[in-house]
Amino acid sequence: MKILVINGPNMNLLGLREPDIYGRQTYADLVAALQKRADELGVEISFVQSNHEGDLVDAIQQAYPEMDGIIINPAAYTHTSVAILDAVKAVGIPTVEVHMSDVKSRDDFRQVSYIRQACIATFMGKGFGSYIEALELLVNK
Ligand code: DQA
Repeated sequence: MKILVINGPNMNLLGLREPDIYGRQTYADLVAALQKRADELGVEISFVQSNHEGDLVDAIQQAYPEMDGIIINPAAYTHTSVAILDAVKAVGIPTVEVHMSDVKSRDDFRQVSYIRQACIATFMGKGFGSYIEALELLVNK
């Protein structure tokens, strides 16, 4: 089984950005934690991070046909991107939306998620745990 983890803009600045919201652990720490859990579960995992919307669309398109699941934190593009929604719909790969923070309890503009309608589940507010739960869901599916 092959899982692709996609992270959107500013997720490369984990540890630096708003640590009161996102914590002190870095993007490299996130990759290491997911790699460790994937190894335990016996699945192949790969990672893409980009600050550019089109790169994220490209990563979703290139996931077809070899990836069995996608875990995506589109970050700010969650709240704006029809292009990312359409890409997930186009490839038809089981996809889970994740967020480090509890977006439900944040700004009004974060209450919209375009991608959610194309995802099999959403995990939020659990930091790295949101990604781990998404991985476990895809593996047990
Ligand atoms: C985020 C929440 C988004 O609203 C925000 O723009 C991000 C990160 C999260 O992981 O909590 O960049 O997706």
